[in-house]
Amino acid sequence: MEKKIIVAIDGHSSSGKSTISKQLATSLGYKYIDTGAMYRAVTLYALRKGFIQDKAVNKDKLIQALPKIDIKFRYNPKTEKTDTYLNGENIEDEIRALEVSNNVSRVATIKEVRQAMVKKQQKMGKDSGIVMDGRDIGSVVFPEAELKIFLTASTKIRAQRRYDELKAKGLDVSFDEILENIEERDHIDSTREESPLIKADDAIVLDNSNMIPKKQNEWLLEKVEAVRNAH
Ligand code: DC
Repeated sequence: MEKKIIVAIDGHSSSGKSTISKQLATSLGYKYIDTGAMYRAVTLYALRKGFIQDKAVNKDKLIQALPKIDIKFRYNPKTEKTDTYLNGENIEDEIRALEVSNNVSRVATIKEVRQAMVKKQQKMGKDSGIVMDGRDIGSVVFPEAELKIFLTASTKIRAQRRYDELKAKGLDVSFDEILENIEERDHIDSTREESPLIKADDAIVLDNSNMIPKKQNEWLLEKVEAVRNAH
């Protein structure tokens, strides 16, 4: 039987991590885990509870509430996608809204939030055969992952992709606002004290600015094959 591995995919916001991670997981018959969705779920919880006012997060209240935040992923056979659940409620659409995007990076800087999420992620991936995407998967969550990818693309291209995605969902958004949000998130994610977004030493960089998802999947499958042959 082929050895099951852990594939860690880290990179900048809107670099297409989830698209290629989902595709790769399907190709390999692996489980896909979107860790950004978990930080988004915590942010939605905090917003609903009024723990975030004018972008300032009430850390103490949020940390205290952490044990009450249950996050799960469930496969939706109708859409053939995995939906995120917060305390039993499907919040998949709500966590993609701009209000959550605008606040999530700040929530993700909180040490206690990160520790709680990392613990959950390690539990979810303990049996291998997973593709997990995020910012600290190769560096903190699974430093022992057999394959680590660092995904990036130019800021303008990332903003355009996000804009197209939200427009397709019928949302009224401005390109400049999205570009600003991406630049701000890059800055917060890369400069935060607690497990910042960095390329792990043994991660392979994939700049997909000019590469369609199908080509990226082929490229990734080659890397997986090479890792399996080496083990
Ligand atoms: O991948 P995304 O845009 O859905 O992630 C949302 C935010 O969560 C992003 O601004 C950074 C944070 N994040 C993180 O700090 N660590 C992760 N493993 C995943 C996401």
